[in-house]
Amino acid sequence: MNGMTLIRHRRSVRTFDGRALTPSDAERLMQYAGSAQSPYGLPIEWRLLDAKAHGLSSPVIVGAEQYIAGKLRRAPHAEEAFGFVFERVVLYAEQLGLGTTCIAGTMNRAAFERAMDLGPDEVMPCVSPLGYPAAKPSLRESMMRRGIGADARMDASQLFFAGGFDSPLDPARAGDLAGALEMVRWAPSAVNKQPWRVVLREGAAHFYEKHARGYVDASGWDLQKVDLGIALCHYAYGLEQLGRAWTLTVADPGLATPPDTDYIATVR
Ligand SMILES: Cc1cc2nc3c(=O)[nH]c(=O)nc-3n(C[C@H](O)[C@H](O)[C@H](O)COP(=O)(O)O)c2cc1C
Repeated sequence: MNGMTLIRHRRSVRTFDGRALTPSDAERLMQYAGSAQSPYGLPIEWRLLDAKAHGLSSPVIVGAEQYIAGKLRRAPHAEEAFGFVFERVVLYAEQLGLGTTCIAGTMNRAAFERAMDLGPDEVMPCVSPLGYPAAKPSLRESMMRRGIGADARMDASQLFFAGGFDSPLDPARAGDLAGALEMVRWAPSAVNKQPWRVVLREGAAHFYEKHARGYVDASGWDLQKVDLGIALCHYAYGLEQLGRAWTLTVADPGLATPPDTDYIATVR
């Protein structure tokens, strides 16, 4: 599968066929997760968890015997770092033919955090069921996808800009970056809100977060920054598919921004 096919083929899988991962798939995935890194340099510990042994469940997941979960220390950019590496792992799982769904809310979180031995200065942002997709999604899964509009994404003209936010990007002017931006467009996000906005300017891609209400908790943890980490992962993946090296910096270019829109990072 080429990169774009992989990105377009991936979708959240919430109905599994009940089989546990083969030892070979489990080993390959966990080895990959253990070695995957984010450009933020914050280490993440991944564990493959047996659902029965730890009493793990999610009301939206059917037929999954195992979950993967990750934890890291609370620190600036922990959200983006986690989203970035989580999505690397998701894309690798997709290559192995495994189903995944990023789950931040619909699970018995306390049981997961116990299974992860979560420390007071640590956070476990999201988990994912792991397994082989069932031939047919459950009725609940189909209804959920329809309710969220999970098969659609916003138009590129709402997400990508040239030079500044007042000028929607003409894809013809994006050159070979158009493919990487299309991968960003199809990234998964919490409740499919797609909070990423990108300004292309002088060869750099400046990523911004368009906040929706209700995603920052009392501790300041911002779930939509996890979405931004996922979007950054897709962009980096798109550049890698072109054989291009990339760097990520956090250095606000000071562009005028629309309301509720904050700078996140720049990829060159
Ligand atoms: C950060 C994040 C949190 C999510 N949390 C949940 C969740 O708690 N429960 C759930 O069923 N799906 C969750 N999702 C999955 C999204 O609903 C899904 O990615 C989105 O609707 C797009 O659908 P797709 O992944 O099939 O492309 C989450 C996704 C992300 C990126």
